[in-house]
Amino acid sequence: MTKTANTMWGGRFAAGPDAIMEAINASIGYDQRLAPQDIAGSRAHATMLAATGIITDTDAAAIKEGLVTVLSEIETGNFAFSAALEDIHMNVESRLKEIVGEPAGRLHTARSRNDQVAVDFRLWVRDQCDLADAALAGLQKALLGQAEAGADWVMPGFTHLQTAQPVTWGHHMLAYVEMFERDRSRFADARKRMNTSPLGAAALAGTSFPIDREMTAKELGFDRPMTNSLDAVSDRDFALEFLAASSICAMHLSRMAEELVIWSSAQFRFVKMSDKWSTGSSIMPQKRNPDAAELIRAKIGRIFGANVALMTVMKGLPLTYSKDMQEDKEQTFDAADNLMLALAAMTGMVADMTANRESLRQAASSGFSTATDLADWLVRELGLPFRDAHHVTGSLVAMAEGKECDLPDLTLADMQTVHADIRADVFDVLGVENSVDSRMSLGGTAPAQVRAQAAYWREKLE
Ligand code: ARG
Repeated sequence: MTKTANTMWGGRFAAGPDAIMEAINASIGYDQRLAPQDIAGSRAHATMLAATGIITDTDAAAIKEGLVTVLSEIETGNFAFSAALEDIHMNVESRLKEIVGEPAGRLHTARSRNDQVAVDFRLWVRDQCDLADAALAGLQKALLGQAEAGADWVMPGFTHLQTAQPVTWGHHMLAYVEMFERDRSRFADARKRMNTSPLGAAALAGTSFPIDREMTAKELGFDRPMTNSLDAVSDRDFALEFLAASSICAMHLSRMAEELVIWSSAQFRFVKMSDKWSTGSSIMPQKRNPDAAELIRAKIGRIFGANVALMTVMKGLPLTYSKDMQEDKEQTFDAADNLMLALAAMTGMVADMTANRESLRQAASSGFSTATDLADWLVRELGLPFRDAHHVTGSLVAMAEGKECDLPDLTLADMQTVHADIRADVFDVLGVENSVDSRMSLGGTAPAQVRAQAAYWREKLE
């Protein structure tokens, strides 16, 4: 009787668990992206094994040549990936064996998949830092083009999304150039810190073979070998730093995307997206939707998600390698892909959009945007304490509101009913151009400041 029972669940387990085990265990579905890095790492390792006399020059030559063949098979789509071989490392090695025979078996001397995957992934993330930097520089240039064209175009500056003070279009564009510059420096900083080689840490403890870790580090463009083998195989800080920098960059992109969505609305009309970056509606013929901006705003969630996911994978992991760490790759790939896509789309949109100078100016001239200029005039010219000037200005705003006009539309007589000493030259500061021209403090919105900043960026970005 027990035999029957055994057969029953033995039958279920013999086939079922194997297939599911393979499904949960295999990473080849996504880590095949690491093929170029895996092969670069293996070639460096083989060179070093021969240089140190651990394998013969003949074997190393066969291995390295075979690896080139494997890579070209992968790159041309002539490679049969196998889930039974789990991951990119074993897929490559197994094919190498088919191509070069016995020497292939010597490649894994003094190495483990643990240091191998750490090298591959580091090299991949390092490349992404460089790609992000180049993409951000492109976006900065597109923004700079806008800033140079509209250094003196007046627009409303907002706080709380309420009209605050007039600013210039160029100033607003350069604000993003600054943000993206900090993003670039975060990627550069992360890159510098990640640029150390785990290769030679082997499984976790190092190796008894006389390897030369300086040599492989140099060959792969790393600054130096990592100094603790336990740390080398279990560190994923480099990917986390990349994801953290990506998240902050993505946050900047989403803020900008949100502004473009608002600015391209019929209520604002600050910008017109080019046809290339707009979509229509199948039912409402008047629509011109800023879909790319909306998608950038939304895609950011996946990037934040990848950051949180990997932090969560890593938290609580005992030293050294655990299979949990295989879950570091898929989301990092997705985050990097979507960051690059968002950067490219934002760059295209910014380069091709047209600011509506008239709408910007009109909006800047409404909403009592020069109220602060008026208060400052009362302080400067009449010697009022700022608090009193604020109060007087408040009364004048209320008066204008009552008359349904803006501050420059009040007459001098109107104004003098609130404060008798107000003179006609007050009108000089109520115009939006005068307002921005006067903001000459360092980093201020005056066109002269904006032009100087733009010139600085032009030189830096060229
Ligand atoms: N595919 C594995 C990963 O991505 C490679 C390392 C496997 N190491 C091991 N000890 N099973 O993490």
